[in-house]
Amino acid sequence: MKLIELAKQNIETKGYLDIETSGIDYITEIQKLKKEKNAILLAHYYQIDEIQEIADFVGDSLALAQKAAKTDADMIIFAGVHFMAETAKILNPTKKVLLPDLLAGCSLADSCPPDNFSEFKKQHPNHVVITYINCSAEIKALSDYVCTSSNAKKIVNSIPKEQPIIFAPDKNLGAYLNKETGRDMVLWEGSCLVHEAFSMEKLIKLHKENLDAEIIAHPESEDHLLQVASYIGSTAGLLDYVKNSSRTKFIVATEAGILYQMMRENPDKDIIPAPAKEDNTCACSECAYMKLNTLKKLYLCIKHELPNIEVDAELAKKAIVPIERMLELSK
Ligand code: 13P
Ligand code: SF4
Repeated sequence: MKLIELAKQNIETKGYLDIETSGIDYITEIQKLKKEKNAILLAHYYQIDEIQEIADFVGDSLALAQKAAKTDADMIIFAGVHFMAETAKILNPTKKVLLPDLLAGCSLADSCPPDNFSEFKKQHPNHVVITYINCSAEIKALSDYVCTSSNAKKIVNSIPKEQPIIFAPDKNLGAYLNKETGRDMVLWEGSCLVHEAFSMEKLIKLHKENLDAEIIAHPESEDHLLQVASYIGSTAGLLDYVKNSSRTKFIVATEAGILYQMMRENPDKDIIPAPAKEDNTCACSECAYMKLNTLKKLYLCIKHELPNIEVDAELAKKAIVPIERMLELSK
């Protein structure tokens, strides 16, 4: 669904966001409502600390999709962005799937409109299509395989070398995969605003001041940044790397929400966020979409069971095929 339609739906449901909630202890109420409604709260590592703290499960895109597919809860509350909740609904259509704020979109998903992508596909006949999970259900329905940053290399390598491939929508992840796998995939020109917001100048200066620190990065980052990284991986990969490393200082190039788990798991290590080009409140990179979810919205979402994510049955039937291929290859 286009963001504009989501926005309209959000306005229709916005009234409930203005409901007076002063004096309500959101955390206690959310826990109570979760139990009463047999709901599971899934949260991505980029969510605000308070949401990660009360979630039943916190993970990267792949782990969240796997969890959503398997859960026997009646309701999935997705503290993440729209494509994640939509994927959960496609994988587990009998469950009610809720997203605290319908405007929690993704710049990467928005950079790939279905009509343009359909044309792009026509210009590259005989290509297998691999799409990063950060895209709409319409784009997934036009794909042969979906992947996430934690299984992308495996998915690309599962396809015979001589088979031409289109990779969409992230050109940075695509270029990184081309380097890693020796392929020459045709890349869609999409990117994530957040991972393109790091300043190389400030990063180099910061590294000079902390020469004992290792730079680690998410593969949505640009090539010049990935070239100076000692480790490149998904959010879960970055967390595992820091936990298992004997090093004690890291400069982390991804969205700042990950710092909450990283610092919690490694209280004795120095975790420094990679600096953003623009000076902002945290001098780091934050995803404005991820940060739309708040405790108040989460509370109202569980209480009123809104906003509810729906996916057209015909569309879901097509979109689930490449997602299930990915899950099968990720076992
Ligand atoms: P992960 O799959 O690594 O959690 O990434 C999700 C995402 O949106 C990165 O910007
Ligand atoms: Fe999308 Fe980038 Fe936000 Fe991830 S960080 S959800 S890719 S806009």
